Amino acid sequence: MSQLRVRKAVIPAAGLGTRFLPATKAIPKEMIPIVDVPMIQHIVEEAVRSGIHDVILVTARHKEAIENHFDFNFELEESLDQKQKKDLAEISRSIGRLCNLISIRQKAPMGLGHAVLCAAPVVGQEPFAVLLGDDLIDSEVPCTRQLMEIYESQGASVVGVMEVPQDQVSKYGIVGGRTLRPGLIEVDQLVEKPSPELAPSRYAIPGRYVLSHRIFECLQNTKPGKGGEIQLTDGLQLLARVERLLAYEFEGTRYDTGDRLGLIDATLAYALKRPELAPGVQELLRKHLRGS
Ligand code: UTP
Repeated sequence: MSQLRVRKAVIPAAGLGTRFLPATKAIPKEMIPIVDVPMIQHIVEEAVRSGIHDVILVTARHKEAIENHFDFNFELEESLDQKQKKDLAEISRSIGRLCNLISIRQKAPMGLGHAVLCAAPVVGQEPFAVLLGDDLIDSEVPCTRQLMEIYESQGASVVGVMEVPQDQVSKYGIVGGRTLRPGLIEVDQLVEKPSPELAPSRYAIPGRYVLSHRIFECLQNTKPGKGGEIQLTDGLQLLARVERLLAYEFEGTRYDTGDRLGLIDATLAYALKRPELAPGVQELLRKHLRGS
């Protein structure tokens, strides 16, 4: 396998976001904020902090707000400058400068595997990271950076995993294989949402991957599964047959922001980390708990 550097990240964001209706009727799920920063900005910032500048957004109709967010907003920024609100103007401009955003459309919601495949013409023959917007991972070393280091040292594609309780395995893609050292597994099995008795381990894949471009031929050969969708897990299963695939237990706290309670959890955790908000949020929490 070639040892090219990972320079590109793919962010699939073409899903319908039905779990957040009615909020997602007219705005993309990815623009829902954690406090005051849209979820997608946290994800793009993780890629950028990992050393990636080219971000490929797989998007869909009615999702233009995401592209606008990563552009400059001339009227807003000029108006803030004129009002001497330079710090706010800089917040807005800095998002425009964050990365080189390349967007490509998935024309029908044919699954996560299909969304990744849509990025193939832009990725070309290079390894690349995949970050799902539904998983926010708070860590000192960005999760994607941790996976890039494994990719570079081991010369193999790698999926980020976390250990989950037995009764939760049926919510995730689960890996099985041989432990090479604590936290690093050579994968020979991937099962999408297994029942607890059939799960090969308790190592679940939230949404972080660093993959070789050979995943694209695997996805092309992946038959649609449930609901006619092409699953990334099925493509990874094929990849594990043609080359080494590793699973790495990343360090960090993961929030499931694709779920309403997970979003509330992340909002509280991120608000409590902000010195200007923490005392007020603690007071609000005490007030609500007293009332319960
Ligand atoms: P989800 O299964 O969470 O679907 O997709 P969703 O549409 O975003 O949300 P719900 O379940 O209806 O509320 C996981 C990830 O895969 C992307 C989504 O945007 C999300 O980041 N995805 C899924 C696509 O890009 N295309 C698809 O066809 C399906």
